[in-house]
Amino acid sequence: MKLHEALRIQLEPIDKEMINIVKYDADVPRNSPIVRSVTELIRAGGKRLRPVMVVVGSRFGPGRPQRKTIRFAAFTEFIHAASLIHDDIIDRSAMRRGEPALHVKIGVNEAVHVANYMMARSVELLSEYEGKDNPYIRKLSGVLTTKLCLGEYQQLNSRFQFDLPLERYLEKTNNKTALLMATCLQVGASSSGADAQTADLLYRFGECVGMAFQIRDDVLDFTASPESLGKPAGSDLRNGNVTLPVLYALEDPRLGPRIRSLNAASPLAEFAAAVRLIAGSEAIDRSLQLAESYLQQAEGMIRKLGRYPAHRDLETLLRYFAAGKPERARLRQ
Ligand code: FPP
Ligand code: MG
Repeated sequence: MKLHEALRIQLEPIDKEMINIVKYDADVPRNSPIVRSVTELIRAGGKRLRPVMVVVGSRFGPGRPQRKTIRFAAFTEFIHAASLIHDDIIDRSAMRRGEPALHVKIGVNEAVHVANYMMARSVELLSEYEGKDNPYIRKLSGVLTTKLCLGEYQQLNSRFQFDLPLERYLEKTNNKTALLMATCLQVGASSSGADAQTADLLYRFGECVGMAFQIRDDVLDFTASPESLGKPAGSDLRNGNVTLPVLYALEDPRLGPRIRSLNAASPLAEFAAAVRLIAGSEAIDRSLQLAESYLQQAEGMIRKLGRYPAHRDLETLLRYFAAGKPERARLRQ
């Protein structure tokens, strides 16, 4: 059963909301490549993980489901999709979800403009909801989008920096992945009038599952097959990204010097050898253990929210994040 089905969430109204944002945008001509690209992106489907988290969050408030919950869900997917368009350009990744990435289909410059439009319009439309009754909107529209960019910049800035402290890796991971998931739940909760304490617990749940999600994603770059990745394995290391498996492998006296000798000009065979060594090392299990400890913390949040019937939906989400299938965790949705 698909995640949204297990959670009894209909994706059609969310997709329709997304299509309408661009279709009825008075500033964008109907025949514009922006409309075509955004519509195609939406029609290509996906798990809609972040919108689903907004809707789950809304189940913790006393109010009935609201139109604005669906709007927020649509904006979060826009922000996420825009960030992946940029990410694939930055990572020089030609494939996304097993399909050619947008910049491959329409060109880098065009893809940058499409993503900028999606990000900027979401921030603008979200700001219409800013106010006392929803204190978290500002966070989603401003702080979070800035942090997404900063997380990516931190990653870029630490390419091939093998002395990166673990705290910096965790901070970057939080910025680029966990904060959006956390904010989705929190914004959803406040859209239905949930109290601040509940919204904060949901935020912490989202942060923990987001951290686990990104760590597992980083592990899969070493362990999964190119077929299940939808792109060549080992891309992170080749791009100089110092992810958790690399940080742990650096502590191994056998592997450390080999990894430290890599730089942007190293031959592909050296990267391939390092990827194989890391994949076969303890670093993988250690990384997965850290992911697991975040999932356990998330479980603790569910216990604290046990008085709400919707805590069962968090259990469903937790099972999704904990699922062992690399394919599922990897194809970022
Ligand atoms: C995936 O990382 C990337 C992110 C989670 C966030 C990327 C954010 C940006 C590029 C900033 C976007 C800013 C604007 C203005 C649109 P990954 O490469 O580890 O994951 P992957 O394996 O799915 O590619
Ligand atoms: Mg990437």
